[in-house]
Amino acid sequence: MGAGSEDLPRHIAVIMDGNGRWAKKRLMPRTMGHRAGMSALKRVVKAMVELNIPYLTVFAFSTENWRRPSEEVDYLMNLLVEYLLKELQELHENNIKINILGDYRLLPPRCQTELEAALKKTRNNSGLTFSIALNYGARHEILTAVRKAAAAVASGKMTADTIDEAFFSSLLFTAGLPDPDLLIRTAGEMRISNFLLWQIAYTEIWVTKRLWPDFTKEDLLEAIADYKKRDRRFGGLSRSEAGEKHV
Ligand code: IPE
Ligand code: IPE
Ligand code: MG
Repeated sequence: MGAGSEDLPRHIAVIMDGNGRWAKKRLMPRTMGHRAGMSALKRVVKAMVELNIPYLTVFAFSTENWRRPSEEVDYLMNLLVEYLLKELQELHENNIKINILGDYRLLPPRCQTELEAALKKTRNNSGLTFSIALNYGARHEILTAVRKAAAAVASGKMTADTIDEAFFSSLLFTAGLPDPDLLIRTAGEMRISNFLLWQIAYTEIWVTKRLWPDFTKEDLLEAIADYKKRDRRFGGLSRSEAGEKHV
């Protein structure tokens, strides 16, 4: 038996990849791929609201993406500001709560200002929680949490033995979010690229060759349909096996 035909994933995470390849195929600069990727993001956010799925987390900029040429990094930062300026009102009207994963204080000041405005405006919204991973790297996130846990022990607030999964999770950028049920990666790469390493321990992974700027609601529905067929055992037995009792 699958995850249950009625069971939609509650939290979908997306590694939005392939913008550069999309542009290259069209003999355009990579930046045009990022612009087209912004339209794909708008489509997916809209689809998530329509489907009434409560959590969407997207990987927009990794701690490693600073290695790219400065013109491309600048373009991405400006695109983020443009996205927030253009879309914030509509996101807010759709009851979407914006959340940031990663150290956004290392982004250009203009980005910080717009991000803070977005966080503040949507803080009390109760619809889709839309988390944007920006200057995010899972190893950095885990190390930061380890340092906080060590400081809690050093100050006597905790003992080493009382650090459990729940406490550790509360120190991550994703504190308060459920773990993703489904992780989608576009553009075909079979790797995680330093995204949500702790949180995806039991996440179902779906990789498509589709490049991110071409990703549509139909692709999202295909990923969800595939997810529904999965048998999520979490190390135990499937529902049917558990009922058979002939061990
Ligand atoms: C994903 O597309 C967007 C970011 C990483 C910011 P890429 O820019 O990585 O596109 P490819 O992988 O070069 O095609
Ligand atoms: C992952 O894509 C990061 C984002 C989508 C923001 P990359 O294009 O940076 O990943 P690699 O370099 O192919 O692993
Ligand atoms: Mg890439």
